[in-house]
Amino acid sequence: MRKRIVAGNWKMNLTAEEAVNLFNEIEEKLTVTDVDVRAYAPSIYLQSLSGKSKKVTVGAQNFYPSSKGAFTGEISPTQLRSIGINTVLIGHSERRDLFGENNEFIHTKVKSALENELDIILCCGESLETRDAGNEVEFVTGQLSSALNGVESESMKNIAIAYEPIWAIGTGRTATSQQAEDMHLAIRNWLVSKYGSAIAESTSILYGGSCNAGNAKELFACPNVDGGLIGGASLDAEAFLTIISSY
Ligand code: PGA
Repeated sequence: MRKRIVAGNWKMNLTAEEAVNLFNEIEEKLTVTDVDVRAYAPSIYLQSLSGKSKKVTVGAQNFYPSSKGAFTGEISPTQLRSIGINTVLIGHSERRDLFGENNEFIHTKVKSALENELDIILCCGESLETRDAGNEVEFVTGQLSSALNGVESESMKNIAIAYEPIWAIGTGRTATSQQAEDMHLAIRNWLVSKYGSAIAESTSILYGGSCNAGNAKELFACPNVDGGLIGGASLDAEAFLTIISSY
């Protein structure tokens, strides 16, 4: 069976005290054992949260794809590894749109993360304009094709994909379960054509974009939805725990 993953993307939220309280509450109340639960925390909290829990894996929202050097303000994969961080987000639409990360840079980050043995949640997703034009599958598989260019089959065990339609992120407008399933199936078919069915069947594909305690059950019931990347609703322990229990 494919790994089910529910990951919180805390983005640029929470004070230090709030972050610790949220993490502790999730850790204390989490009883589900068959879901890989993760918290992608702001970088300044990573060291204090890293290794704190056997039940919740802490990951980084961002890194710079070089081992060291003159990159003011950036954090390297080596530095992340040195504080026990083993997983990163790559390709989030906010990094693409607000910080100018293009497909080429995202591909460089994927290679760098794999070289440094970091597990990846690779995000993809189309704008409303692209969807309205009916080009969403071509667009999303194009993003994946670029990000995974040259990535060998054996590295796919370290990669999960998160489909996050931009029009659903932080908007309260979630994709319908049918829209999510259609895209997840298209992504899986694309994986079959690139890596074959065994790899495609074992790659987790998460949904992200206004997933919450009220709609997670329906989304997670889709055969090709293997979990969620949760923004806003992951900042509330009860809501996040309900989402985790929604399988
Ligand atoms: P959201 O964010 O759940 O707040 O829509 C999801 C994400 O950006 O990962």
